[in-house]
Amino acid sequence: MTGTSQSTIARLEDLVGRMTLAEKVGQLNLLQPHRFTDLEEKIRNGQVGGVFGVLNPADIERYQRVARHESRLGIPLLVGNDVIHGYRTVFPIPLAEACTWDPGLLEQAAQVAAREAAANGTDWIFAPMVDICREPRWGRVAEGAGEDPYLGSVIAAARVRGFQSIEGIAACPKHYVAYGAVEAGRDYNSVDVSERALRDVYLPPFKAAFDAGAETVMSSFNDIAGVAATINHFTLRTILREEWGWPGVVVSDYTAIAELIEHGVAADLRDAARLSLLAGVDMDMQSEAYDRHLVALVSEGAVPLDLVDEAVRRVLRLKFQLGLFERERLDQGRAESALLTEEAREVALRVAHESLVLLKNDGDALPLTPNARVALVGELADSRKDMLGCWSHTGRAEDAETILDGLSARLGSRLEYVASEVTAAVAAARTADAVVSVVGETADLSGEAHCRAHLGLPGQQAALLEALAETGKPLVVVLATGRPLAIPRVVEQATALVLAWHPGIRAGRAVADVLFGDVNPSGRLAITFPRTEGQIPIYYAHKSTGRPAEGQGTLQFDVPFRSTYLDEPNAPLFPFGFGLSYTRFAYSDLEIESPITDRVVACANVRNVGGRAATEVAQLYVRDLVASITRPVRELKAFERITLQPGESRQVRFDVPVASLGFTGLDMRYQVEPGEFRLWIGSDSASGLEGSFRI
Ligand code: BGC
Repeated sequence: MTGTSQSTIARLEDLVGRMTLAEKVGQLNLLQPHRFTDLEEKIRNGQVGGVFGVLNPADIERYQRVARHESRLGIPLLVGNDVIHGYRTVFPIPLAEACTWDPGLLEQAAQVAAREAAANGTDWIFAPMVDICREPRWGRVAEGAGEDPYLGSVIAAARVRGFQSIEGIAACPKHYVAYGAVEAGRDYNSVDVSERALRDVYLPPFKAAFDAGAETVMSSFNDIAGVAATINHFTLRTILREEWGWPGVVVSDYTAIAELIEHGVAADLRDAARLSLLAGVDMDMQSEAYDRHLVALVSEGAVPLDLVDEAVRRVLRLKFQLGLFERERLDQGRAESALLTEEAREVALRVAHESLVLLKNDGDALPLTPNARVALVGELADSRKDMLGCWSHTGRAEDAETILDGLSARLGSRLEYVASEVTAAVAAARTADAVVSVVGETADLSGEAHCRAHLGLPGQQAALLEALAETGKPLVVVLATGRPLAIPRVVEQATALVLAWHPGIRAGRAVADVLFGDVNPSGRLAITFPRTEGQIPIYYAHKSTGRPAEGQGTLQFDVPFRSTYLDEPNAPLFPFGFGLSYTRFAYSDLEIESPITDRVVACANVRNVGGRAATEVAQLYVRDLVASITRPVRELKAFERITLQPGESRQVRFDVPVASLGFTGLDMRYQVEPGEFRLWIGSDSASGLEGSFRI
């Protein structure tokens, strides 16, 4: 967040001094136009501070004109939009983007999205979604960066920097806070996490987003240990304002203030308005609670005017900082030409390339040879809209390349496509050298309010794969999905498995490039894949327990008196950080420099022992062996992408601040406890060279 200049403060104070209470309250009202027939009238009356969900530049221009020229004080509107994984140039879903482990590239992607959005009249982006999520049933897992606070924080910061590198754009990390921990993976459900989990797991990406300059934040729908996030003094005031001193704008989520009535914590909308403003929600999205009740609440003394003034100042400061008062008219010619440029399409392709994760490749079934005869099977192979993913309302299906497009371009008549008919698919497989089957979820099975209790392949896809596997032909499965799926049988059947997620507009080209080896896959899982729904929540940074599954340690408990299942291993289908490539990497020569003062410097040698150039994501994990609080068995603390030619080796050198090795202690303060730590450097969260150090 940029500092506020003296001249801005003067203008701001002058403006606030001229405002009536009703006009102040108007600045706190954020509305989605399609619900209101009298929106322009409201804007003219000074009752609206911002609009959202308006995509047509002509509409934006019209509303802004009324605000600037027909309202008494001429205060421009904020224009918010959900630009979650691209605007018109649709990138892979954010969970896929996170699998790139490439913050620089994601910063660029966010910049492309913000540039397109800004040229079309948006000045406030409701992203990044930074909810840590260890719950694949939750549909919104698709929108975030996965399960890990460190990776999530690095990516949150990159996305904020990318969005806000475009002049006149404010980012809005969301949903504050712990929304990703909804019980049973059901959207909007209760969250009951400890203060320690909040501080150590769910808050860090928000802090990283603010440190990167995020100007606003969106509070979440859920309650946290019984206190609704929208009226949560502890998260909204104690942490955000007092501990962090963050000065930005807090906006509620969509009708979240009105929903306090259903939560059973507000008697009516008036009560809901009072509680939300007192807790520190500056803007009311779509509930009209402030609009209807705040003037009366202040007049009656139920809400101090000072709090309204504080909120108004925050909103107006943002408007000044974004340059809204100076902004020229929207150039509608420029609006269209800013979209889907060749450069943007290139960035989308790079992100798609890097987000694909190779999960299995038996007998080097991949890459396919250029002259192979291929049977392509599966409806998802020919679906444009499903390549876009869950939050792509600003994109267009016709912009997307399908996987069928991508493979046809390479194979021509050597490709036979069968959508879903089993007999025809089997016949095609029999005459082919290899089968590529695209299976998974349509885009409408993930995203907000799109949760699933069953994480297998929907519909008849499993039966189709059974039939294809029986042909004995190499079976390459391309998994298009918005969440981790629990598909152990598919993994068994597949000769090779490529996780494509919902890869955005460049799906076809990206998948073809990986299948044919023009691009060597480098994606690594940003989230654990469970073997079965019964293992959820499953994540690598779990605690040891007193009776760990592996039975290591001093006490050897007999089976089954360990923290295990009778009917399923504890191990996931694929661990966090995992991903293969068409080469292999060998790690050696782990060294931890001593003495350790305020940094832990650890090095290892990584050699490409395969036959192709490839990119490895070297990962560093630690475990605090004895502490006053139980600590995760591993925690990611650093990573680096390195590209190596065949036979080439390089030393990776990690420099980890000792200050980052702490946790929330017994007194609820962050602390680093001296003692022994274990450290790993390797390819994923379940392997690596092991060493130890003391601090
Ligand atoms: C979602 C937010 C989104 C808002 C505005 C809500 O339903 O939870 O993520 O930004 O709508 O569209």
